[in-house]
Amino acid sequence: MGIREELMERIDMERIPRHVAIIMDGNGRWARGRMRGRSEGHAEGVNSVHNITKAASDLGVKHLTLYAFSTENWNRPAEEVETLMHLIGWAIRKETPELKANNVRIRLIGEIGRLPESVRADLEEGCRQTASCDGLNLNLCLSYSSRRELTEALQAIVDEVAAGKRPPLVDEDTISSHLYTAGIPDPDLLIRTGGEHRISNFLLWQIAYSELYFTPVLWPDFDENALLEAILDFQGRERRFGMTSDQVREQKP
Ligand code: IPE
Ligand code: IPE
Ligand code: MG
Repeated sequence: MGIREELMERIDMERIPRHVAIIMDGNGRWARGRMRGRSEGHAEGVNSVHNITKAASDLGVKHLTLYAFSTENWNRPAEEVETLMHLIGWAIRKETPELKANNVRIRLIGEIGRLPESVRADLEEGCRQTASCDGLNLNLCLSYSSRRELTEALQAIVDEVAAGKRPPLVDEDTISSHLYTAGIPDPDLLIRTGGEHRISNFLLWQIAYSELYFTPVLWPDFDENALLEAILDFQGRERRFGMTSDQVREQKP
């Protein structure tokens, strides 16, 4: 039996996380380890996006949220930013037909207005083409900053209250429904590749009770088996949401 089959045998298909979010880190180090330029690491990272999206879709994951470019990433050298933007446009054009065929819906999260016009057009075309797909939702975070998202949400709520469009009483749902992720359930599992143990301004509100999984595997090396291992790790954990272990067990049918 191959490694994949062994892993699949141990996976509980009834407990696949509904929402997996990934901080795709380590492209630069992958390239440096091979004496290649950072762009080649990013290009290789696109293959991982292809493979992981396919694997998540096959497993029945409902939402796959990928951190592809942070607001802070605009501070990288202009040449690298240009390469990344070019790659994003190219990848979405290349991948859209297969995504559509696999019933995957593309959604965009972040300050999409800051992306170059042509990349935006490619992304929006991808969203249009897959708008009626109802399998996996592939949520691409581009020019994303969680603090900015929260700041914009709070500003929008304040403006609506000032305009008399809503009562001044704010609850958690008010905030959730003003985020880019409105309507998307919170991540069950957050994976960060590349060995760093940090969140880097990603989904700060939404990951309040997510299970965190950090792996040293660099993003271009993160394959289907690595995803299965992360899901197995997730399935071995007890999500207590503040309760005791006994309470959680009593709740189970
Ligand atoms: C992740 O890889 C891709 C982006 C952040 C766009 P990095 O480019 O951060 O790779 P490392 O961390 O330098 O290895
Ligand atoms: C986080 O990776 C952002 C993305 C994966 C898009 P970074 O490589 O930019 O994170 P830091 O700066 O090392 O925290
Ligand atoms: Mg990095």
